[in-house]
Amino acid sequence: MLRFETAGESHGECLVATVTGLPAGIPVSLDAVNRELWRRQQGYGRGGRMKIEADRAEIVAGVRHSHTIGSPAAILVRNRDWQNWTDALPVEDIDGGEEKRKPVTRPRPGHADLAGALKFNFHDARYILERASARETAARVAVGALVKALLGSFGIEVLSHVIACGRVRLERHAAWEVLLGCVDTATEARMKEVVDEAYRTGDTVGGVFEVMAHGVPPGLGSHTTWDSRLDGRLAQAIVSIQAVKGVEVGCAAEGAARFGSEVQDTIHYDRERRSFTRGANRAGGLEGGMTNGQDVLVRGMLKPISTLRRPLESADLVTHEPSLAAYERSDVCVLPAAGVIAEAMVALVLAQAFLEKFGGDSLGETKRNYQGYMKQVQDF
Ligand SMILES: Cc1cc2nc3c(=O)[nH]c(=O)nc-3n(C[C@H](O)[C@H](O)[C@H](O)COP(=O)(O)O)c2cc1C
Repeated sequence: MLRFETAGESHGECLVATVTGLPAGIPVSLDAVNRELWRRQQGYGRGGRMKIEADRAEIVAGVRHSHTIGSPAAILVRNRDWQNWTDALPVEDIDGGEEKRKPVTRPRPGHADLAGALKFNFHDARYILERASARETAARVAVGALVKALLGSFGIEVLSHVIACGRVRLERHAAWEVLLGCVDTATEARMKEVVDEAYRTGDTVGGVFEVMAHGVPPGLGSHTTWDSRLDGRLAQAIVSIQAVKGVEVGCAAEGAARFGSEVQDTIHYDRERRSFTRGANRAGGLEGGMTNGQDVLVRGMLKPISTLRRPLESADLVTHEPSLAAYERSDVCVLPAAGVIAEAMVALVLAQAFLEKFGGDSLGETKRNYQGYMKQVQDF
């Protein structure tokens, strides 16, 4: 069973992730992990913090001589900003520590601040926002890089791109081949204008990203039980990302407005290639909760970032008086980064389903099991 956990606060010493259940023998490159972390920090509309932090992963367990060894892997990502917070967020209380805290008593609408303060009985939302922050996703992306290496050993790749920013939308479907070359420059320029407008007006902007997985074999996930259905598992993984409020599998929204005859992907058989083919991929590579061999396609709908330079109305946690929400240095648009995080989450869910089906304590064993199954599919 492949599982992972993360710990760490936004302005704490570091983020930590552990991942258990990876077979031994997966090739791991620290450069590849760091490249994914770098990709998470890019994108038009990011805030000041990205300039002070270039994330680097430290793998402290589970990888030796550039390969997984089958034991839990542990990754650290240090917070460069920690040096500015050692007095405000010390592990052990310090003399005069009360004055050095940076309390947040004016909860920000759209954040975990108020609900978390009520739930954990803090009159300072600092302890809540430190963990609710999307900083945590750096740890997810680091784990995602290891998992992508597993999937890559089987020719499975996962990529993302932005398909809508505010009211500007990419008006065509992008096939895998197009995605690699990437981006409609005219649409991208219009998207950047929307971000600029948000900057100018002290506002923020959301949109939609799309994640595509290529080379996925048919039969991952299962129709047999509600919690093994892969579409549901992917939806949970995508919506678990901070600020993602909606998810779409394939062309769900478009399909909901059409007749069934226009929406289902017809089935054909290519005798020369001795394989089934499909008329289109509107289902996003998922039918009955299983992969069907087409590209897996999921989209995430990101709300506009909650923290505004023009703060929204709030009420103080201590005095209960009306007040403007606190301002923490903030991004204006995080769509490309959210896509990279979603790649990691999709890779994790696919890898879980992959290992459920093929198992294996070593990569060689997983490969034998995979090849046996693929022969069954080819000879079908
Ligand atoms: C990559 C990324 C960066 C984010 N950066 C910010 C930010 O700078 N400021 C902010 O207010 N929210 C930011 N968010 C969103 C908040 O973390 C999120 O809205 C908040 O934790 C509340 O969770 P919810 O929106 O999922 O309900 C970011 C989200 C992502 C995915």
